Amino acid sequence: MSCNILAIETSCDDTCASIISDGVILSNIISSQKIHAQYGGVVPELSAREHLSSLPCVVRRSLEEAHVDFDNLSAVAFTCGPGLRGPLLVGSTYSKSLSLALGNIPLIAVNHLLGHVFAGCITRGLKFPFLCLLVSGGNTMIVKVSSFSEIDILCQTVDDALGEAYDKIAKIMGLEYPGGKIIDSLAQKGDKLMFKFPTVNISDDKMSFSGLKTAFRLFIEKNSQTNAAFIENNINDICASIQHHLLNTVVKKLIFWIKETGIRTLSIGGGVASNIGLRDMLSKLAVDMCLEFIVPKPEYCVDNAAMIAFCAYEKYKHGFFVGYDCDTNPKLKI
Ligand code: KG4
Repeated sequence: MSCNILAIETSCDDTCASIISDGVILSNIISSQKIHAQYGGVVPELSAREHLSSLPCVVRRSLEEAHVDFDNLSAVAFTCGPGLRGPLLVGSTYSKSLSLALGNIPLIAVNHLLGHVFAGCITRGLKFPFLCLLVSGGNTMIVKVSSFSEIDILCQTVDDALGEAYDKIAKIMGLEYPGGKIIDSLAQKGDKLMFKFPTVNISDDKMSFSGLKTAFRLFIEKNSQTNAAFIENNINDICASIQHHLLNTVVKKLIFWIKETGIRTLSIGGGVASNIGLRDMLSKLAVDMCLEFIVPKPEYCVDNAAMIAFCAYEKYKHGFFVGYDCDTNPKLKI
């Protein structure tokens, strides 16, 4: 009989469900919550309520698309952290109830960050070692992956995540939330060398983006004093220049760790991994440094349950199950 796992991801503002059957992803349903745009950020309480109402329908769609019934499920997996407490609790409670209702079928807890780290392996398969640049709205780190359970953080942000920096910079320019994708698309039409921003000197195992956000706000305020239409008239060049600066900061660290570890395979994960500028820079870097570059499909970069399902299948093979007392942890680390 096939091993069919239902995976549920509700760590932030996307309600996601996926079916993996014998290691092959059969469905990947993502329902994004639009309600937060009017508040300029995710409202945890609203997110939890939305998950509660959307989850049954999202799960049903994932089963239908995969042609799998509840009765054919071998296990249920859920994201146990990091993320927002309420949303995580909705996903874990739903999964526990379902496992119980289906006759105590195995329950698997998956770290959201591991999902992002292994997203590139969904289509490529697991081969070690590799370096992964994890860049999302909540995390920014470079990790060394030696095996499924042996992951070392080489470098990480000491303050804001890269996606968070993008979103805050977008807000300063009056762009919609989340602004990362908007900056990326406007940057394609601008001159990346038009404006310069200060660089932060920090050790090789750290990155920092909060100072840049302040520098950017001052840059906008100063220029807008003499030209009220400064943002409007220069939006493409501003976006191209700040994107160039942000990505350079990350890529410089990556080059250091590629040289330091001698690892020749590079992967990316997290929402910012869909960034066109970043993908271009890393593709060129891979050619220059003779690296294998694993690029996850865009639908595996955003928050999704397929990456949770992929990790759950690995855990299922090794019998890594949890009990109904398994807690969620909003601050769970790698
Ligand atoms: O991984 P993700 O979906 O959620 C977290 O788990 O954090 O990432 C969302 C973040 C947001 O900050 C969003 O602005 C950013 O990823 N993002 C981008 C792009 N697409 C999404 N940032 C830069 N360029 C993009 N193309």
